[in-house]
Amino acid sequence: MTTLSLPQLLTTLRQAVGEPHVLTEGDLSAFEQDWRKRSRGKALAVVRPGSTPEVAAVVKACAQAGVSIVPQGGNTGLVVGSIPDASGTQVLLSLQRMNAVRNIDAANLAITVEAGCVLQNLQQAAEQAGFLFPLSLGSEGSCTIGGNLGTNAGGTQVVRYGNTRELCLGLEVVNAQGEIWHGLTGLRKDNTGYDLRHLMIGSEGTLGIITAATMKLYPLPAAKLTAWAGVPSVQHAVELLGLAHQHLGAGLTGFEMMGQFALSLVDKHYPQLRVPLWQDTPYCVLLENSDTESEMHARERFEHVLEVAFERGCVSDAVVAESLSQARNLWHIRESITLAQAEEGLNIKHDISLPVSAIAAFVAQTDAMLAREIEGVRLVNFGHLGDGNLHYNVQAPVGRDNAEFLRTQEDRVNTLVYDAVRGFGGSISAEHGVGSLKVDTLPDYKDPTALAMMRRLKQALDPQGILNPGRVVQLS
Ligand code: FAD
Ligand code: MLT
Ligand code: ZN
Repeated sequence: MTTLSLPQLLTTLRQAVGEPHVLTEGDLSAFEQDWRKRSRGKALAVVRPGSTPEVAAVVKACAQAGVSIVPQGGNTGLVVGSIPDASGTQVLLSLQRMNAVRNIDAANLAITVEAGCVLQNLQQAAEQAGFLFPLSLGSEGSCTIGGNLGTNAGGTQVVRYGNTRELCLGLEVVNAQGEIWHGLTGLRKDNTGYDLRHLMIGSEGTLGIITAATMKLYPLPAAKLTAWAGVPSVQHAVELLGLAHQHLGAGLTGFEMMGQFALSLVDKHYPQLRVPLWQDTPYCVLLENSDTESEMHARERFEHVLEVAFERGCVSDAVVAESLSQARNLWHIRESITLAQAEEGLNIKHDISLPVSAIAAFVAQTDAMLAREIEGVRLVNFGHLGDGNLHYNVQAPVGRDNAEFLRTQEDRVNTLVYDAVRGFGGSISAEHGVGSLKVDTLPDYKDPTALAMMRRLKQALDPQGILNPGRVVQLS
């Protein structure tokens, strides 16, 4: 195979995608800096293909030049996986121009979109056709379905609809050799061998570049009910979840828990949102029921859950949204925690999952252990309790410099928290992925045989190591 020099590569890339779509100069920070502003890289070029054959041509040229590729969607990832490293030798492949809705198949309850389609646009396209696309994240105005698949994103509806993986019926992928795999079948059953779709999903751009996807659609719910409840403890929140499962069944579509300090940050930075109940209770829960029945029946059942919970002492107070705009406001408060934290300054972020049955004990023990180890430590604890996923974040004590705290305490705090997670049978990455932030930590917590198999897969599918190297697994 002939090789390409870097100038030859740039010429080939310009020929492949068009001169205006190969960026090498100007302010490229939107592509080169991660969302949390923890890292900044430098790309050889930002390349913005407009079609799948163009992506294939870019990968072939990069393979010929031995240049690695970092795929990027909305660049909202939280584990530093979608920006180039600092070497100035990697191609940043942005899928943003590939944002079309290709097809809606109503009878098959399926929608086919290009990878760069922004999640909110996908939700809206589904709704305009009379369907629900349930994936829902705080970043939905910017993240893309390619990134959601790349990270196997979770979000706030997992308790009912599952992660992005569960919502995907088919993929179109450009592999490390620049070949196109046409896998947009839309089939719900296909046992013709290894399911490559599931290898690609959650592989964070290390095994292939997703160029399009066929995703599941659902009927739009006839009624949606939303409540905000104060709960005396995590254990009470877990009991409320049990009641909600028991009485609402598949109607339970959201169950989020938020600690008092997390909500105090929203109140501090966005006082106009008027956070309910937070001052009176250590935790609040946001509960959602979506039903195909009439609102009257659904409301009766929903309010019954809260009444039973109140009688049992699981709920101290609650508000039920009376309108769509009130419900939206409650969700807006929940989704603002990440932004409020960012306003407050750098913190140590964790995205852990645990069996729901272990969460109360984990929080009680780990809160106490961190309070002993770091005087004045502040815990920003919130997350998707319905599916066992907590964002158990650690903020510097009052008066301590955030950057200094991170520099000196991050490794120690991570070890303390992750050892506790392991002790309770949990995972150190529930929904955000590994990226480069957790790549060196993963071997301490992942089953060694699983990790060895992951490395072998990476070597088999990408022997040159050109797809997002240094993310998910280190080969050496
Ligand atoms: P990017 O950040 O661009 O990329 C993420 C990873 O996917 C990278 O490794 C990248 O290389 C790879 N990738 C991107 N596109 C492709 C492609 N086409 N083919 C192959 N690989 C690709 N995440 C959750 O799971 N749940 C949440 O509730 C949630 N809430 C968030 C709230 C806020 C305010 C923010 C800022 C982030 C949140 N996230 C959440 C994290 C983030 O939004 C998700 O990880 C999202 O799926 C990333 O999508 P993206 O298009 O921005 O991907
Ligand atoms: C969330 O649940 O809000 C997100 O995963 C983002 C975060 O962890 O900050
Ligand atoms: Zn989350």
